[in-house]
Amino acid sequence: MLPIENTATSPLTGQDFDHQFCEDVLTGLKATPKYLQAKYFYDATGDELFQQIMNCPEYYPTDCELEIFTQQTKALAKALIADGSAFDLIELGAGDAMKSTYLLRELISQQADFTYLPIDISGHVINFLEETLPVTLPGIKLKGLTGEYFNMMGEAARISPRRKVVLFLGSNIGNMPVAEAEEFCLELRKHLSAGDRVLMGVDLKKNPHTVLAAYNDAAGYTRRFNLNLLERINRQLNANFDVSKFEHYPTYDPETGSCKSYLISLDDQKVELCDETVTFRKDEYIFMEISQKYTVTEANQMGVHAGFKPTVNFSDSRNWFLDTLWLAI
Ligand code: AVI
Repeated sequence: MLPIENTATSPLTGQDFDHQFCEDVLTGLKATPKYLQAKYFYDATGDELFQQIMNCPEYYPTDCELEIFTQQTKALAKALIADGSAFDLIELGAGDAMKSTYLLRELISQQADFTYLPIDISGHVINFLEETLPVTLPGIKLKGLTGEYFNMMGEAARISPRRKVVLFLGSNIGNMPVAEAEEFCLELRKHLSAGDRVLMGVDLKKNPHTVLAAYNDAAGYTRRFNLNLLERINRQLNANFDVSKFEHYPTYDPETGSCKSYLISLDDQKVELCDETVTFRKDEYIFMEISQKYTVTEANQMGVHAGFKPTVNFSDSRNWFLDTLWLAI
C-alpha cells in the first residue's frame, strides 16, 4: 500500500505544519458548533484506515468509479483525445493513480499525444508515481507536480501551452459543502482556457440506506477513521483526548444529499491541547466531514454555473456514480 501523508493539507512540513494544525484545531474546537477539518484525517494511520474503508463491502464509490474506468476505458479515452491534438492530462490529488492507470494505458495504446501531470500535495506520492508509472506504463510521458492544486495548475500552464484535460476523481468534490464546491469549480475554470476539459467524479444520490451504510461500515473502519483524528491530535499536538468518550455519528439527509459525520461527546469533559483547555458538554458534537451527493442534473448545473458545457456522462451499471466530462467554453 502506498503511504500517502497529508494529501489534502498545505505543503508545510515539521514545526510549521504542527503550528498550522494546532491553530486550525483550536479554531474549530472553540467554535460553536465545534468542527475539525477533514483534510487532517490523512496521517499514516488515516491513510491506512481509508484504504480499509475503500475495501469494505459497504463503501461503494471506489468500486463504482473503478467499474467506469475498467468497463468504459475506450469511450473515456476517445472523449479525452477529442480532435487528436496534443494535450496535458492533469490529475488533481492523484494519490496512487490506481483508476487513472487504466485510462493512461488505453491512451498510450491509442498513441495519444499527451503528458501526464499528476498533482499532489505530497512529494511522497509524486516520487512514488514518477518511479513506478514508467515501469508499469512504458513510454508514458510524465511530470509530477508537488503542491497546492491551483498553484500547480498555474505551473502546468507555464510549462506547456497545450490544451489541458483535468481529472478530479473519487468524489473528492463531495468533501466540500455545495457553496464551496461551486466556488472550487469557478476557480478551476479560471485556470483553464476555452476548449480544455474536466472529468469530474461525483457520487450520486441513491437509496439513503446505501449511502449511510457506506459511512457506517459494520467492521467499524469509518468510526476508527474519525476517531483517529482525535488520536492524531493526541500524538502530534500532545493533547489528551479520551477517545472512548466520543461516539461516531454518521447521518444522511436524502433531501439535501448531505452525508455528514460527527463525533459526540459522551460526557462533560475537558481536553488539554496546544497549552489551552477545551470544554465539551455531554452530547455536544464535533462536525467532522461532509460527503455531498448530487443528482446528475445538479452536478452538471454546477459545471454550467462555472463556465463549462457538460458533454458526456459516464456512469456505472447501477447509476450510483458519475464521471462527467465538462468542456470549458
Ligand atoms: C475521500 N472522500 C471522497 C471520501 C468520501 O467518501 O467522502 C472520504 C471518506 N470519509 C469517510 N469515508 C470515506
